[in-house]
Amino acid sequence: MRRIESGLMGAANCIATVDRRRSRYSLADMHISSRVANMKESATLAVGNRVAALRAQGVDVVGFAMGEPDFDTPLAIKRAAIAALESGMTKYAPTAGDKPSREAIARKLREENGIPCRAEDVTVTVGAKHAVYMALQTMIEPARGDEVLLPTPAWVSYRPLIELAGGVCVEIPGSIENGFRVTAAQVAQAITPRTVGILLNSPSNPCGIVYPVAELRAIVDVIASHPQVSIISDEIYEKLIFPEILPGAAHWSPGSDPRVADRTVTINGMSKAFAMTGWRVGYLCAPGSNGHFAKEVIKLQGQMTNSIASFFMPAIVEALAPSTAPEVERMRLAFATRAKLIHRLLSAVPGFKTVQSTGAFYSFPHIGELFGCTSPGGLVIDSAQTFSEALLNEAHVAVVAGEDFGDCARSHIRFSFACSEAQIEKGIARVDAFVRSLRAPASAAAGHVAPLLRQAGTVG
Ligand SMILES: Cc1ncc(COP(=O)(O)O)c(C=O)c1O
Repeated sequence: MRRIESGLMGAANCIATVDRRRSRYSLADMHISSRVANMKESATLAVGNRVAALRAQGVDVVGFAMGEPDFDTPLAIKRAAIAALESGMTKYAPTAGDKPSREAIARKLREENGIPCRAEDVTVTVGAKHAVYMALQTMIEPARGDEVLLPTPAWVSYRPLIELAGGVCVEIPGSIENGFRVTAAQVAQAITPRTVGILLNSPSNPCGIVYPVAELRAIVDVIASHPQVSIISDEIYEKLIFPEILPGAAHWSPGSDPRVADRTVTINGMSKAFAMTGWRVGYLCAPGSNGHFAKEVIKLQGQMTNSIASFFMPAIVEALAPSTAPEVERMRLAFATRAKLIHRLLSAVPGFKTVQSTGAFYSFPHIGELFGCTSPGGLVIDSAQTFSEALLNEAHVAVVAGEDFGDCARSHIRFSFACSEAQIEKGIARVDAFVRSLRAPASAAAGHVAPLLRQAGTVG
């Protein structure tokens, strides 16, 4: 550490500061680390902020951008936190969470997911995002060129968090033809001596699909034969699977496979299934190396955030209790109904190609057929981003453009259907009218669009 002497140098600094203030002191005077400067803003949060600003101006926006259930947190969960607060549970708690919450999580993971773990292998985190951040920081060695495999389209935060940790993000592209799933053969091909991990997320954001257990097992078979590769399995949408849409659809945790259990970090949280996004509660479980990885994560957490709010911990125990299951099931059923509704409506929009959602609460249509058209407001639609901008500004419907979900997602837009059926009907009617109002290009290069819109009854 360097001590700053007072005296002439100090005076000179002082004058420089005053001079700078005179010329309007700005943040540009402060250095921004390249790690942060190069990092992209979260695309979903950015749209969310724009929607909030438009609504504040009185604009009636139909929001499909935020991955946030419209349901309220079940009452019993709220009551558990209120009771804890009233009983004086207001002090620092152990970094990784108190014993009852860690034990409840470990029990859930053992009994529901078949993951052999102890409470000591678990840490309660500030949302699942914090857990993903810490897992990557703990796993990646920046100077070594460590690679992390990312099946895409994938959640917008994975790539920035891999890169922030100093890793190289290697995308494995899924395609709409294969229901957005990557294959075990693709995973095998992507592994190099520098691969340290793979990030799996089923059910998936943004695709709204669930990997069939056999396909996920086949991917794990590949990982099992590469002992230097760890798995981060983000299972935040685990409870939102729709067997009523895809018979037999079920969740399976890679961490339950004895061949990789020791090198799998399982991440989950309360945000989605329990409608607790604002609470910021997630968790991470890493039983490997006799809990060594978990210990190192908890060390990082101790220097970072310490524990979550102490009085939320009894709410975790309540959420994971069997008595809350009917509430979770009620929400799941509503999402399943919405999944069918939005798929039916989106499939009728000209130029949209959509895969039926079987999990989570997202639909991710391909809209590339519309590129080259011009919106009524005069914007040339040349990307998912421009389509989304025109849709928001001209039809007041918010979606997230595909670009930040991966290279293979550039012609897609994401709809979150965590909103009411009435909102879905109103919003997709606006989308449909907007698409039918697009002007097809005159150029032959985009000749495929004109017949498409003409067929849909729009003026070319
Ligand atoms: C795949 C995925 N993982 C993690 C998260 C973060 O969840 P949390 O609110 O618990 O931080 C999200 C949120 O959208 C997500 O979609």
